[in-house]
Amino acid sequence: MATSEDFAPARLPASFIPPITLDTKSETPLYRQISVWFQRAILAGQLQPGQRVPSTRALAKALRVSRIPVLSAYELLIAEGYFQPFVGAGTCVSQSIPDAMCRAERDNLPNATSIETEASTRRAVSRRAAGMVGSAQAWLDQCRGCTDLDHFPIGIWSKLINRHARKISRDIMGYGDPMGYEPFREAVAEYLGAFRAVTCDPSQIMVTTGAQQGLLISALTLIDPKDEVWIEEPGYPGTQLALQAAGARLVLVPVDGEGLIVERGIEMAKRARAAFVAPSHQFPLRTTMSATRRIELLGWASRVGAWIVEDDYDSEFRFCGNPLASLQGIDTEGRVVYVGTLTKSMFPSLRLGYIVIPKDLVSDFLNIRNGSETYATSVLSQMVMTDFMREGHFSRHIKRTRAVYMERRRALAAAIAARAGGLLEVVGDDAGMFVLALLPPGVDDTEVVGRARQAGIKVSALSQCYIGQPARGGLQLDYANCNPKDIPAKVSALKSIIEACRPKH
Ligand SMILES: Cc1ncc(COP(=O)(O)O)c(C=O)c1O
Repeated sequence: MATSEDFAPARLPASFIPPITLDTKSETPLYRQISVWFQRAILAGQLQPGQRVPSTRALAKALRVSRIPVLSAYELLIAEGYFQPFVGAGTCVSQSIPDAMCRAERDNLPNATSIETEASTRRAVSRRAAGMVGSAQAWLDQCRGCTDLDHFPIGIWSKLINRHARKISRDIMGYGDPMGYEPFREAVAEYLGAFRAVTCDPSQIMVTTGAQQGLLISALTLIDPKDEVWIEEPGYPGTQLALQAAGARLVLVPVDGEGLIVERGIEMAKRARAAFVAPSHQFPLRTTMSATRRIELLGWASRVGAWIVEDDYDSEFRFCGNPLASLQGIDTEGRVVYVGTLTKSMFPSLRLGYIVIPKDLVSDFLNIRNGSETYATSVLSQMVMTDFMREGHFSRHIKRTRAVYMERRRALAAAIAARAGGLLEVVGDDAGMFVLALLPPGVDDTEVVGRARQAGIKVSALSQCYIGQPARGGLQLDYANCNPKDIPAKVSALKSIIEACRPKH
């Protein structure tokens, strides 16, 4: 018998009681029913090698049987090599059952979770879910970078977590306010008023798990299936996902250097129900919507009674000119729903964002939130974030990362100019966490991205942000989380890849 020194840590404590149902009227003896249950669970991968199993005493008690059948079952499982006893550490699923064997056996079991079908025989799901697969993958692949973590004040963050973790009150263990933790909403309202010229009070703020959830809740609240909705082309694939989930008919309105071309939107679908835009920093073209276009957009919405959903995902990071006011701040009719996030200014796994809702729509947004999902946002994170904001760490952190990103952006732009000038044309504002660079006409950006990734360079293809056909390919280069020392060599490698992808005449 192995000793406790050979014992690998258990994945779950031995005190768990497996869901075994015994049939006392069956002709199969109880010990056999128990051993077969464990054998199947191990082969199906439900119990993993090294997992501790309950003591015979505890299992017998839970199953309301004498210890004898449980002991006999365990002896049999040990003899057959499924269980391994450890002196001083109880009994475990045998370590020597190779994962591969379990998987092979699992694939043969007639188990609902193992059913895989060919694309041609896919089982029926909603058209909405089936239609979302491609774009969902593109979104995950294309858009998710990470923020710089080298300069994140992890010590302060841990201290604030500990402060709240030490005195967990009963209040915060319940569902909490579905709009979010009130002091956090107050801090967010102050921040948005001061830095984004958003006009709101805390009662209008709904805390979300990020901008994506904000877009989804907005779409589900404002849009009926088959309603026409303007979206930017190219645009953020997550917006497309949210609107598809709501059943909207997407109207792809082109974007130029001044933002969404309102006139084209009116020609294409004058009576659309809403427009989803990112006016402060268009994704992925990185331009700012001009004052004229903002006024045109608000004017159209006012005339036809449409809603505007403003995705303001990274406007903390502008490196030139004054901070921009939000569209919501110049809306006098309460037509703009403002969606924001802490993903870019803090870090993605925080999963905190917010919606600023026109006052008369708050209860409608709440109905959708309550009906479509749970409150989802951790109260503890909101408490920690409130202190991080109130004690000045947030504004200091933004100031610090703004300087870091500006330096990285400029290093990247300089390296592109020096090493790949004729091949990559940087476009968009001096802002954000990505550089967008257009490729020479005829170069397929997905081919460049594929080859770059093989060479260990993470870039994304502009074409994936189009639903229609892009006029020109481009690359989105993420600098927020890169080591500036690596930039020149990566740009040179990218240049060789682009040259290799140029059409041969
Ligand atoms: C334009 C844009 N909007 C929204 C989001 C979603 O952010 P969140 O992580 O808060 O859901 C992102 C994330 O990258 C984004 O780029």
